[in-house]
Formats: sequence, structure tokens, C-alpha cells
Amino acid sequence: MCRLEGKIALITGGASGIGECTAKLFAEHGAKVVVADVQDQLGQAVCESIGSSNSIYVHCDVTNEEHIKNAVDTAVKTYGKLDIMFCNAGIMDPNRPRIVDNEKVDFERVISINVTGVFLSMKHAARVMVPARAGSIISTASVASHIGGMASHAYCCAKHAVVGLTKNLAVELGQFGIRVNCLSPYAMDTPLVTRFVGIEGEALENVTHQLANLKGVTLRTDDVAKAALFLASDEAKYISGHNLFIDGGYGIVNPSFNMFKYPENV
Ligand SMILES: NC(=O)c1ccc[n+]([C@@H]2O[C@H](COP(=O)([O-])OP(=O)(O)OC[C@H]3O[C@@H](n4cnc5c(N)ncnc54)[C@H](O)[C@@H]3O)[C@@H](O)[C@H]2O)c1
Repeated sequence: MCRLEGKIALITGGASGIGECTAKLFAEHGAKVVVADVQDQLGQAVCESIGSSNSIYVHCDVTNEEHIKNAVDTAVKTYGKLDIMFCNAGIMDPNRPRIVDNEKVDFERVISINVTGVFLSMKHAARVMVPARAGSIISTASVASHIGGMASHAYCCAKHAVVGLTKNLAVELGQFGIRVNCLSPYAMDTPLVTRFVGIEGEALENVTHQLANLKGVTLRTDDVAKAALFLASDEAKYISGHNLFIDGGYGIVNPSFNMFKYPENV
């Protein structure tokens, strides 16, 4: 059960959605967890539910280098080291179908949190992991890291950039035994998506299920947390530079041919 015994993890965006679920799962598997977020009440509540002996909340805006530096230093000061950095904080901008209606300020905000925030998180994780010659850095990308037409221009290019950062850093840090990977989930019910599409819970899951390639199952935050657990653990000791899709095959289908449609009565 304890696949992260003795490990120390820092999770940005750990107050909600995928980050919250991952913080809880990592703690169940023996890790000590630093939850970093801008939603202080929610972040503190996550730590309360995990328990104060193995988690700590740090206020951290990922676009602010001092905040990231402080979150990493808090992990090292409190628990002695940092084994796992989960660069997960992210936002979506409002859906404006025409590029001419997209504002520079919205574009730059998404890039700032979803790309610069990941860069800064990676940078300060590397600062303490390189001397230790060990570590696992994981980021949350998206199916939008691979295909177009699923999200705004800003979000799509930000998630493509996360893959680029992942590859480049995997090359740089391989010589120190540090693995760098990212996760690319399909859509699921979290506050980020709810804000974007305006529906939640079962209604949202019905829509995502209808559009999905894989039927009969619904993607939930714990599916992403379990993939993060795998990449964080020693079971993934030779996996680096990888973009792991958690999308039930959604990203490999071009639906225009509809080749494999079975007749209704099968
Ligand atoms: N939910 C989905 O369908 C889905 C699919 C693919 C990828 N993702 C990605 O998963 C990640 C987590 O999103 P989620 O769906 O769990 O949404 P969420 O809104 O539940 O969680 C995102 C968290 O990031 C935090 N955050 C936002 N800006 C921040 C900042 N500047 N500094 C620190 N923290 C900040 C928020 O406070 C929030 O707690 C994001 O990177 C998102 O792009 C989500």
C-alpha cells in the first residue's frame, strides 16, 4: 500500500480538484505532502483532512518566484528534502471562439500560470534535487497538449509548452538521475471545467462521456492521481520525458471516418 514511504512531495494547485485528490492519495501511500495554492482556506482544509503530522499548507502563487522558492524551501526545512514536485496548478480562460475576441491580458494570464508557473516550479525543484541526485518532477498538461480545438488558444499552446518543458528538462536532469514527466488527462468534473462549461456533476460527466472514446467508465480526479502516484513512485524508475495520456484513447481518434460503428443490435 505504501508506494511513497519516506518520500516528500510538493503539489501546486493542491487545494482543489486533481491536486487535492493527489495530495490525499500520496499521503495514504506514506508521503509527507506540502500543499501549495492561492486558495488558503481550501488548502488548509486539505491538510487538516490529511493530518498535520504529514502535511503542511503553503500560500504560493506559482507566477511569483519568491513564493515558489519559499514553498520548496519550506518542504526542505520541514521534512529534510524534496523527492516529488507535482506542477499541477492551472487555469482556463473564458471560451471566446474567435481569436479576434481574445484579449492579450487573458492570454498572458494563462501563459503566466500554466507555463511560467510550471517553469518556476521545475526550476526550484531542480535547485534542491540536483544536489540530492534524485527526484521526480511531474506536471499536469492535458489532451490539449496534443490536439487542437478542445480549449482556448492560450490553454492549448500553454499545454503544448508544458510538454516542451518536460522534454527539455528530462534531457537536462537525466544526468542526475532525476525523472521529468507530464500527465495529459481528458476532461473531468473539477471547478476548473465547471467554470469553463457552466455545468457540473452528473450533467458534466454525461457530456464528457458522450464525447469520449472509451465508454462505460468516467474519468475522475483519482484516475489522474493514480497516474501521478505511478510516475512519482520507484515503479516508474526508468520513465522520463514521457507525456502520459489519461484519455481513454480520445487523443488518437480522428472521428471523421467513423470506421468502427457497430449496428444498433450488437
Ligand atoms: N479538469 C480537467 O478536465 C483537466 C483536464 C486536463 C488537464 N487539467 C489540468 O489539471 C490541473 C488541475 O486543474 P483541476 O481540473 O484540478 O482544477 P481546479 O480548479 O480544481 O484546481 C486548480 C488549482 O490550481 C490553483 N491555482 C490557480 N492559479 C494558481 C496560482 N497562480 N498559483 C497557485 N495555485 C493556483 C487553484 O486555486 C486550484 O486549487 C490544471 O493544470 C488543469 O489545466 C484539468
